[in-house]
Amino acid sequence: MTLAALLYAIHALAAVVWVGGMVFAYAVLRPVAGNLQPPDRLVLWNGVFRRFFVWVWHAVVLLPLTGYLIMFGTMGGFAGAGLHVHLMQGLAWIMIAIYLYLFFVPYQRFRAAVGAEDWPVAAGHLAAIRKTVAANMILGLITVLVGSSGQFWG
Ligand code: HEM
Repeated sequence: MTLAALLYAIHALAAVVWVGGMVFAYAVLRPVAGNLQPPDRLVLWNGVFRRFFVWVWHAVVLLPLTGYLIMFGTMGGFAGAGLHVHLMQGLAWIMIAIYLYLFFVPYQRFRAAVGAEDWPVAAGHLAAIRKTVAANMILGLITVLVGSSGQFWG
């Protein structure tokens, strides 16, 4: 297996984990968790985020790292990369900025409110998290579309 193949594989796996995790959380777990009463629902999400964000941190580091290694190693850098790669990295930095905001602002507030068992405040922060995850999920799906199909048009 060449180094390029390994980098492509890690890149794709990181995208699957991050974007797939958001789709599962937003489209599958959220409607079901909505049937639970506030304390159970908020404690559930607190545990889900604690575990999921460990995976997201890995993806957030590995995606730009492997992406730029592919770009500089096989495409001749910024000048040689196709339109799809430029679009992908633009979308990627927006996604990363949204994730950093989500992790350091509403998630920290949510975690503190759950720790203090202040359920109404925690529910308010969860609503903010839901909006940011929805935005990043849509951007993530578009980025996967661009990244995976771009070699045919970029
Ligand atoms: C700064 C960040 C990123 C850079 C520099 C980058 C760069 C690249 C490059 C150079 C390719 C190969 C394209 C080709 O062979 O035509 C690629 C493929 C791909 N990228 Fe990215 N990418 C970044 C972020 C992302 C993100 C955030 C996602 C999804 C959430 C993503 C999803 C994909 C997918 C699905 C592919 C096709 C599968 C693969 O070839 O492994 N990329 N990316």
